[in-house]
Amino acid sequence: MTRRAHKHSIFSQKLDRAVFVAYFLGAVVPLVALGAIFARPAIENAAAQGGYLSQAGALAQMGVLASAGVLCMGSFFVLRRFAVQTLQRLRSDQERLARLVDVSQSVSEAHHAGEVAHTVAQAALVVCEGRAAYVFLASEKGVDLELIDHAGREADKIYTKAQRAVDAMVRMALETRRPALVGSDGRSSAGLTAAAAVPLAIRSGQRGVLVAVHTERHARFDTQHVGALTTLAGMAGVAVSNADLRDAQRNFFAHMTDLLVTALDAYLDYQVGHSRRVAQFANVMGRELGFDDPRLQGLHFASLMHDVGMFRIDPDHWGIPAGYQKHPRQGARMMERIRLWEELAPFVAHHHEWWNGAGYPDGIEGESIPLEARIIGIAEAFDSMITASYRPARSVEETLAEIESGAGTQFDPELAALFTRLVRAGAVRVKTD
Ligand SMILES: [Fe+2]
Repeated sequence: MTRRAHKHSIFSQKLDRAVFVAYFLGAVVPLVALGAIFARPAIENAAAQGGYLSQAGALAQMGVLASAGVLCMGSFFVLRRFAVQTLQRLRSDQERLARLVDVSQSVSEAHHAGEVAHTVAQAALVVCEGRAAYVFLASEKGVDLELIDHAGREADKIYTKAQRAVDAMVRMALETRRPALVGSDGRSSAGLTAAAAVPLAIRSGQRGVLVAVHTERHARFDTQHVGALTTLAGMAGVAVSNADLRDAQRNFFAHMTDLLVTALDAYLDYQVGHSRRVAQFANVMGRELGFDDPRLQGLHFASLMHDVGMFRIDPDHWGIPAGYQKHPRQGARMMERIRLWEELAPFVAHHHEWWNGAGYPDGIEGESIPLEARIIGIAEAFDSMITASYRPARSVEETLAEIESGAGTQFDPELAALFTRLVRAGAVRVKTD
């Protein structure tokens, strides 16, 4: 905002009014009262001499009034300037706080350290009003810190020129575990007039530093800038720790699922690869139906785990309905115990229900069967028929005809039509033995 625009803003008018009232009550009224007190003897003296002030007395009175006027004007402008500066500082503190709140919300949802570094570098540039900001990170085993992200139009150029100075500050902040500041003595170093480096407090053993720099003459980082930078570094530390934890969870989950599917394949050796193929077919249908990523992920895991209940069925009973028909419910019970998978349990529980209610274990029908369970039902039936699971494998076309004939009885008719169309269009990768 320009100075002229600010002068005519509502903010400025309100401020002028407030300052004028304060000035009037605090300066003008006492000065007038003082003037009246001091002028009273002269007026009384003049009255005693016939009602006329002497020329010298009149000049003295005018001098006093002129001095008082100049004093009033001066005090008004000083007071106004002080009030403007105070309010501007308050406004910039408010903006800084709002920015920090925004950053805390966005970094709390970050999926990886790089995302956190990007958000924090951008925010550091704004809250410190600097020229460039940098985020350095390294793992516990890493020897040197690596520049992960930066913000500022000339950040690259500035870092190339001042790399030694910045790196020295980063090392200082890491060693002392306190903010490192340069430039407070007014001298510049490698083009930097001021720089502040704050270590990140990362719980997972990683190390990191957030740096902000100035290149303009007389630019400085005051205590509020360093405070804001420290707050950002604290947020970044927690967010990187959480992102690492989530990444470790995802890694654990993906590999444990893979192990479980491999174990299931080995256990049910008559249909090796069945779960992974069902997941692939289900995924194609889910995408075609417009599922978002979290829903697709749920469908994927439910498809991989749909037959996990077979672990609980005695192999001697696999061939009899009273035995194998227990596997959906057993599988659902296993899934319910895993908090991240409990919502997928109904998909596992009902993947053998029929559209007309003739399926198992509950005999529910139509749309009361969860959509994901209906998708898995078609995918499982298709894979079982094209592979030699129980009977000699059928051709793809024979299998599709079987699914079409089961539409409206075993299968959801709309899903059956969608799936057969997708297979014929080549959208489903089918590998037959
Ligand atoms: Fe099954």
